[in-house]
Amino acid sequence: MAIQIRGLEVRFRDTRGKDVPVLDVKQLDLEDGRRVCLVGGSGSGKTTLLHVLAGIVTPTKGEVRYGDVDITKLPEAERDRFRAKNVGYVFQSFNLLQGLSALENVAIAGTFGGQGAHEARDRATKLLDRVGLSHRKDARPGTMSVGEQQRVGIARALVNRPKVVLADEPTASLDDERADEVLALLEEVVKEEKATLVLVTHEQRVRERFSDVLDLKELGR
Ligand SMILES: Nc1ncnc2c1ncn2[C@@H]1O[C@H](COP(=O)(O)OP(=O)(O)O)[C@@H](O)[C@H]1O
Ligand SMILES: [Mg+2]
Repeated sequence: MAIQIRGLEVRFRDTRGKDVPVLDVKQLDLEDGRRVCLVGGSGSGKTTLLHVLAGIVTPTKGEVRYGDVDITKLPEAERDRFRAKNVGYVFQSFNLLQGLSALENVAIAGTFGGQGAHEARDRATKLLDRVGLSHRKDARPGTMSVGEQQRVGIARALVNRPKVVLADEPTASLDDERADEVLALLEEVVKEEKATLVLVTHEQRVRERFSDVLDLKELGR
C-alpha cells in the first residue's frame, strides 16, 4: 500500500512543559512495494516516525495518507482497526502479552485482524515454524530469551499478511545467523504480499541488504 507523508511534525512536551521538536518530515512517498531501510542516530526520531506511520502516535502537524485515507484524521477506534488489518509492526521492545503463550500471542493478532480462530492458529503455527520456534510455541514470553521473543514479535507482525510492515530494529537481539534468517523471512513475506517495508536499523550489515536507504536527517526541512 502506498503511503504519503506531508508536512509532518511531532513535538513532545518535556517535564518542564516545554515543547521539544522530535520529528520533522517535509515529504516522504512510500510507493507500493517499496522496501526501505531507515537510519539515523539514537534519539533522531526513528521509532517516533514508525509510531506515526502505524497511527500509534498522532503527529502535532501534517498528513499521513494510506491511499485516500489520512490516518491522522481517523477516530482512535477506526485507526486501531485499520492498523490491525493493514500494518504489521515489529516493536523494538517486543510488546508481547506475558499471560499468553508464543502461539497465542501470534494467533490473537490474527483474530484482531479479522481471521477466524482456526485460521489464525494455523497461520501462527506456520510462522512460528518459519522463525524456528516450533518447539517453543507453548512457552510464555517471560521464559524465552530476548532473541526468541523478538522472533515471536516478527511472526506476530506477519500474521495478517499486512500491506505495510514496520520493523523497529528487528534483529537487534539476534545473532548473525538468526538475523539473516529473520531478514530473509521478512523480505520473502513482504515480496509475496507486495507489501511496503520500512525497517529501522543501526547495524551496517542489515543496511547493506537494502538498495534503498533513507537517512532521517535528510527528510527534514
Ligand atoms: N512519549 C514521549 N514523550 C516525550 N519525549 C519522547 C517520547 N517518545 C520519544 N521522545 C523523545 O523523542 C526523541 C526521539 O525518540 P525516538 O523516536 O525513540 O528516537 P530513535 O528511535 O531514533 O532513537 C528522543 O529525544 C526521545 O527522548
Ligand atoms: Mg528507536
